[in-house]
Amino acid sequence: MKTVGVAILGLGVVGSGTYTILRDHRDFYRRTQHVDISVESVLELNKQRALDLGIEESRIADNIAEIVSNPAVDIVVEVIGGVEPARSFVLAALHSGKTVVTSNKELFCKHWYELEKAAKRTNAGLYFEASCVGGVPIIRTLVDGVQSNVITRLTGIINGTTNYILTRMTREGADYASVLKDAQKLGYAEKDPTADVEGFDAAYKLSILSSLAFHTRVPLEKVYREGIANVSAVDIAHGKDLGYVLKLLAIGKNNENGVEVRVHPAFIRKDHPLASVNDSFNAVFLQGDSVGDVMLYGRGAGALPTGSAIVSDIIYAATHADHKYATFKNTMLPEKGVKFVNDFKSRYYIRFTVKDRAGVLAKVAGIFAKSNISIADLLQKGDGDESGTPVILITHETHELAVRRAVEKIRSLPDVFSVDSLIRVEG
Ligand code: HSE
Repeated sequence: MKTVGVAILGLGVVGSGTYTILRDHRDFYRRTQHVDISVESVLELNKQRALDLGIEESRIADNIAEIVSNPAVDIVVEVIGGVEPARSFVLAALHSGKTVVTSNKELFCKHWYELEKAAKRTNAGLYFEASCVGGVPIIRTLVDGVQSNVITRLTGIINGTTNYILTRMTREGADYASVLKDAQKLGYAEKDPTADVEGFDAAYKLSILSSLAFHTRVPLEKVYREGIANVSAVDIAHGKDLGYVLKLLAIGKNNENGVEVRVHPAFIRKDHPLASVNDSFNAVFLQGDSVGDVMLYGRGAGALPTGSAIVSDIIYAATHADHKYATFKNTMLPEKGVKFVNDFKSRYYIRFTVKDRAGVLAKVAGIFAKSNISIADLLQKGDGDESGTPVILITHETHELAVRRAVEKIRSLPDVFSVDSLIRVEG
């Protein structure tokens, strides 16, 4: 039977989950995968954490050099997170010919080209299923399941923290700040929630997933990003009345106009398959030219779900003779000739507050007409008072930049007190 030695860098939530799965399933993998996987070494500053997991002291390394020079280690699992020192450790492992399995989306989306170059040089494997959507096997699906298709669209809820917050705001009518505070108390959101709530985490994942789906490198800088910090309970409630649910969507499209990648809050109809993805669950919806629609659903974070993805990569690497690398030219900059769409198309929900007097709405509608933006719905919500009347306008499909320009003109009308929100309507 093939034997494989693993080293785990970092025994935080995901590292501990990975260790636990490998320890508890060792016999199961011997029997079902015909491979004997042993954890030969771990790198963890908090030694007690390793000892508490039952790891022998002799297997706790003091530094990365000990791990890369250990001949019993074939595969290095990096679950430290962030760019440094993870990048240096991963490069050291690859330079010494060891296969790397990582859950690190930030490192991967920013340095994929560099890591892949190092891996190819020594014929080492480089696996990253756990970097996107935790336990949901989206990367294996793209690389090994629907590679027979031209993928034209990828839409996902790929951040559990924001989905948890938006689900609770929707259910309870609660505001963002109080739900965030509660989510932090319950451990759903980090103490510093920026990466999740500002959409960075989802943008890292979308950069990786759309590169794989569309067979071209999609650098992070090309991903339009907006988080959920400005989402208000009022808009969620108005959306509900109109038959919509608000989600933080990651959208990738590839068509004759080019590649379009964006992360932002969006309304989707309540009968859309993604509308019922709630709490901290994630889902990705793919459209392929042969298969049609495919949706994957599951846990995008957590010790065991993310550990599941890591161990799946370990088994894949251990049981395949040839390693798989990107299907495209993996460079820092996008490939020449690939167009990226900035001025994407969507429908828009716009809420503003106006003085309740004759002719105001006609002026607003006039600006949209001049901008060639067709209005699908215009609703005045209530009678208002001296602080103004809320008005909601929904457009037909139109261009992003045209809408932003029209909104600026509306903002400057004397009877318009404020433009309160602009939310894309998708699906
Ligand atoms: N923090 C992420 C989420 C999981 O909330 O989905 C790791 O990417």
